[in-house]
Amino acid sequence: MRNQRVGVLGAGIVGLTTALELQREFPSLQITLIADKFNNETTSSVAAGIFRPASSFEGISRDITSQWIQDSYYFYDGLCQSVDSSAAGVTQVSGYQFSSTSPEIVRNPYLEHLLPVYRSATEEELRLCPGNWLYGSFYTTLLTECYKFLPWALDRFKLSGGKVLKKIISSFSDVADYDVLINCFGMGARNLCSDYKLVPIRGQIIKVQAPWIKTFFYADYDTYVIPGSKAVTLGGCRQYESYDLSINPHDKAAIHERCVKLLPSLKNARVVADAVGLRPHRSTVRVETEIKDTGSEKIKIIHNYGHGGYGVTAAPGTAKYAVKLFRELHSAGLRNKL
Ligand code: BEZ
Repeated sequence: MRNQRVGVLGAGIVGLTTALELQREFPSLQITLIADKFNNETTSSVAAGIFRPASSFEGISRDITSQWIQDSYYFYDGLCQSVDSSAAGVTQVSGYQFSSTSPEIVRNPYLEHLLPVYRSATEEELRLCPGNWLYGSFYTTLLTECYKFLPWALDRFKLSGGKVLKKIISSFSDVADYDVLINCFGMGARNLCSDYKLVPIRGQIIKVQAPWIKTFFYADYDTYVIPGSKAVTLGGCRQYESYDLSINPHDKAAIHERCVKLLPSLKNARVVADAVGLRPHRSTVRVETEIKDTGSEKIKIIHNYGHGGYGVTAAPGTAKYAVKLFRELHSAGLRNKL
């Protein structure tokens, strides 16, 4: 294990949590994090960072996905309660999810038994925001702000001996000098693996200055308001198979209108930033081992991508699972040598 060279591809939240977990489990491994985009250049940095998997979020099986969600929650909760919480950007946040269409929308089987507070909204709470809100939930969850988490995690990785390589990767042969590759390449995995099941779901957000907003709000039609330490994130939209990375003024106007309708006090909040991200969506998140035979060599790859809009939510859990696959791959390698 000591001389094994492992390359982790991608420096978004999935790549970084995977590199840290690998380092924690195998301290003597030589790990290099290889990416062309870091910190605020990544898709992870566009996400508000709320711990909130969709009920439809699915990996290898429902049980394994539930385990990923639990492992992630305990990872962030541990950080939140540690001296590193501020540096890592992890805090508790509470808020509401409202719907005027269906009681199912405001329920979440992953969260109901995991979070410290998850309850139905009272009649009084349903009237907190203008609109005909018929169903609602109130819950307390965690917020991981990537503008803090990504640099914190990168520093921690480097301080523990990890290497970082800034490089454009267009094929696995560009990184052939590693014993094992862990592919956390997000949307980039589409071309890297010719995986056409991986499609972008475009999202656009607005950051506004509204320090009076202390709770989050989710409502119908992808509308959300999430307070962060520097700004409040207003969202959003979900545009299937759109690759457009430019700020669309029509999306911006629609997001602003929906959020102001929900919380009229946002009307005059100063806009400080706009951002777009392509969520790497796959019907099932891919966390699996592949031995890729290129004819001249066999490349050992562990894939960990396709988290859609739930990269921040699920990353530490899928990282743990990917490291378990690494351990199995290593044990199988040792057995084959005997
Ligand atoms: C979102 O959660 O809305 C989101 C996540 C990543 C990129 C863009 C939007």
